[in-house]
Amino acid sequence: MVETVIGKPVLELCKVSKSFHRRGFPPVTAAREVDLHVCEAETVALVGESGSGKSTLAKIALGLVRPDAGEVKLFGKTISGLPMGQLREVRTAMQPVFQDSSAAFNPRRTVTQLLSQAAIRHPSPIGTMRERLIILLEQVGLRPGEDYLGRFPHELSGGQRQRLSIARALAMDPPIIIADEPLSGADVSIRGQLLNLMIDLREKRKVAYLFITHDISIAKAFAHRVAVMYKGSIVERGNADEVLANPQHEYTKRLVEGSLTVEQAEKAVEAISHKMESGVAAS
Ligand SMILES: Nc1ncnc2c1ncn2[C@@H]1O[C@H](COP(=O)(O)OP(=O)(O)OP(=O)(O)O)[C@@H](O)[C@H]1O
Ligand SMILES: [Mg+2]
Repeated sequence: MVETVIGKPVLELCKVSKSFHRRGFPPVTAAREVDLHVCEAETVALVGESGSGKSTLAKIALGLVRPDAGEVKLFGKTISGLPMGQLREVRTAMQPVFQDSSAAFNPRRTVTQLLSQAAIRHPSPIGTMRERLIILLEQVGLRPGEDYLGRFPHELSGGQRQRLSIARALAMDPPIIIADEPLSGADVSIRGQLLNLMIDLREKRKVAYLFITHDISIAKAFAHRVAVMYKGSIVERGNADEVLANPQHEYTKRLVEGSLTVEQAEKAVEAISHKMESGVAAS
């Protein structure tokens, strides 16, 4: 299937492989020579069934898991294999938003400490740090922002923590966000809000996304391109509309049929955009 390249690549995974070995069990190949790239301001959805290797790829991209083979490049520069110190620096360019955001924060830091660390990187002439943090929190729907400033991560619900991780990503102003099922812990009304926020970020700040989801309708609503993963390999890829409207690979067909018909997916997309237009998401 033909893919439209719409800019310079921000993130590239080149022939990345990873197997996990556990004593007494056969090895699991979570990634098998995977090639994947995400361009500036582009959203690539990575879909696939549970255990197909999506999170492993996200962790490899972020330098949290070392690949057995292959390379990870950020703006054309190889970052896989860099020593820890240098990796930490380049990692600020790739902000993660994970489904389980409890592990993403230092439990001993308050919301103020967690966000100001990020906000310091982008000095702004507008307002005091406290005022800026309140705006940031309210942007992600944590209102009133003041109520959250002194809290620790464990004093937030899962959905609130997810929004905090988006707030932190916002504060860092990264060129790419790697989002692993960022909406799955949130209820339906919040999903629209979070999705809207991420679309907003993409439009205003030209953020690129590697967006991992089980939800085909979200992939269709949000992504420019889709890559379908099956047992550690990318079995189909292309422009989102085309892949999901006319899947070629057996597995993609099942995935599309099993979740929603294309018509249902389109209706779900309409419903999401309608919600956004009517301001539900922005409220
Ligand atoms: N640290 C690890 N040790 C051993 N096996 C692992 C490890 N991490 C992942 N795996 C295995 O690798 C495979 C891919 O896992 P991964 O978490 O990448 O899947 P996924 O596509 O993200 O699934 P889900 O949709 O359920 O989140 C699975 O079989 C998993 O059990
Ligand atoms: Mg996963």
